[in-house]
Amino acid sequence: MERIIRQLMDFARPVKPVRGEIRVNELVQSSLAQIDPELERHQVEILPVENGADLHIHGDRLRLEQALINLLRNAIQAASGGQLRLSWQAGVNGGLSITVEDTGTGVELQNVAHILEPFFTTKPVGVGTGLGLAVVNAVMNEHGGRIEIGRSELGGALFRMWLPAGSDKEVSS
Ligand SMILES: Nc1ncnc2c1ncn2[C@@H]1O[C@H](COP(=O)(O)OP(=O)(O)OP(=O)(O)O)[C@@H](O)[C@H]1O
Ligand SMILES: [Mg+2]
Repeated sequence: MERIIRQLMDFARPVKPVRGEIRVNELVQSSLAQIDPELERHQVEILPVENGADLHIHGDRLRLEQALINLLRNAIQAASGGQLRLSWQAGVNGGLSITVEDTGTGVELQNVAHILEPFFTTKPVGVGTGLGLAVVNAVMNEHGGRIEIGRSELGGALFRMWLPAGSDKEVSS
C-alpha cells in the first residue's frame, strides 16, 4: 500500500521541479544503492560495462533518479535470477542516453503500444500498479527527452532514456 501511494504521488508530481547539474555517475550510483535490496531479493547480477565518459545532465535529480529506479525495478522483476546491464553514452549535440537491459523475456509485441500508459500492467495484483513507465515517460517529457523501447542482445528488454543537452525544458506545473 505504501509503495502504491508513493508511486501515485510520484506520478502526480506534487513538488516543484528542482533543476541542477547532475553527474551521471552519481545518478547511477545513488539509484543502484536504493534498488540494492531488490537486486538481492531477486538474485539479479549487474553486468559490468565500460562507461568511460564522465557525463553531466542538467535536470531534476530526484525525478531522474525515480525514472532510472523504475527502469531498474522492471528489469529486476523481468530478469529474476538473471542479469541486467546499465550503461550510458554521449549522444548527438551534447545529449546523452542511459540504457537498462535485462535477460528476461522482453516486452510482448502486443503490449509495446500500451506500456507507457498509466495503470497498464501485466503483473499480478499487488505486484504491479502500472505506473512505473508512466512516471519515466512523464520525467522524459519534463526534460525534453524520450524513451526508446527495444530488445536487448541479452535476450530481454531494452529501455533507453534519451536526454537532450541542457535538459532543462521548463514545465508548466
Ligand atoms: N524490463 C521489462 N521486461 C519485460 N516487460 C516489461 C519490462 N518493463 C516493463 N515491462 C512491461 O511493461 C508493463 C508496464 O510497466 P510499468 O513499470 O509501467 O508497470 P508495472 O511494472 O507493471 O507496475 P509498477 O511499475 O507500477 O510496479 C509491465 O507490466 C510489463 O508488462
Ligand atoms: Mg514497473
